Amino acid sequence: MTEPHGGGNPGPDSPYIFGDAETDRYRLETQTRLFSDYIRQNAYRFAGDNVNSILDLGCGEGQLGFVLREIYPHARLVGVDKDEKAIAVARSKAEALGVANVEFVIGNIEEALPPGPFDLVYASVVMIHTRAHQRIAELVKANLAPGGHFWIKDLDAAGVINAYDNPSYKKVAGIWFETLARVGAHPYVADELPALLQTVGFEDIKREDEIYPLGGNSEAGLAMLAITMGAVYNGRALMSKVMGVPERDIVKLYLDVINSATLAEGEIGAEKMVNIIAR
Ligand SMILES: C[S@@+](CC[C@H](N)C(=O)[O-])C[C@H]1O[C@@H](n2cnc3c(N)ncnc32)[C@H](O)[C@@H]1O
Repeated sequence: MTEPHGGGNPGPDSPYIFGDAETDRYRLETQTRLFSDYIRQNAYRFAGDNVNSILDLGCGEGQLGFVLREIYPHARLVGVDKDEKAIAVARSKAEALGVANVEFVIGNIEEALPPGPFDLVYASVVMIHTRAHQRIAELVKANLAPGGHFWIKDLDAAGVINAYDNPSYKKVAGIWFETLARVGAHPYVADELPALLQTVGFEDIKREDEIYPLGGNSEAGLAMLAITMGAVYNGRALMSKVMGVPERDIVKLYLDVINSATLAEGEIGAEKMVNIIAR
């Protein structure tokens, strides 16, 4: 639920009202750091240590691909994303960091993938944004080296909706996910992927939860709360239009959540994401 090109001054046009642009950028960076730590802790277990080529699907600005390259420094890395601006940022980051053997390409993963084969195909928070799961899974399967792994990380709808046991939170999270579904995203994809991957011929399919604190005083809890509720606030006009709910009602739910989360002592819940790994 991150907004990769978020920022700007807080106000009616700003995606976040949690603070100034610097603070919000810092929170997005914190989230990337949390996700990066998870990758560092689990990559060998999920994909083994013999990875010589990596394809990062929906790579955004390349942030997680660079982490994979750090783990597999000799691997060729290809990142693909349909967002030209994100690819331009990824390319300049690669140049600034002096990372060789890296390529970032503009492309629609529903149509074709950069030529492989790849030992690891990684897709973080991208399957939720598409409905062409079977097609993408088939393309990945055809593009994996023998013994290669497909590692999908995504939101878990039940995990997000049940992250905080609070009526306003549950209501606004429900509106948010229904909006996503109606505009062409697929918030329940994580539940369907294991069976779909099996149909496409993947084996050894496993699912592992990735859990973060929500709220409280830890850096992780504050970042997850800010990012989650920032996405809700950012999407208020869309939710209002798609669901026919007045925008002020959504803002009221949002404020209820922020107020009770701020007044709560300690963490208010946990945010769960899911990883699906297959061969
Ligand atoms: C939430 S971002 C995730 C970025 C990065 N993978 C991460 O986890 O930090 C989703 C990315 O998927 C890209 N994306 C969505 N649908 C796509 C498609 N059909 N083809 C290529 N990229 C796509 C978006 O442009 C966006 O950069």
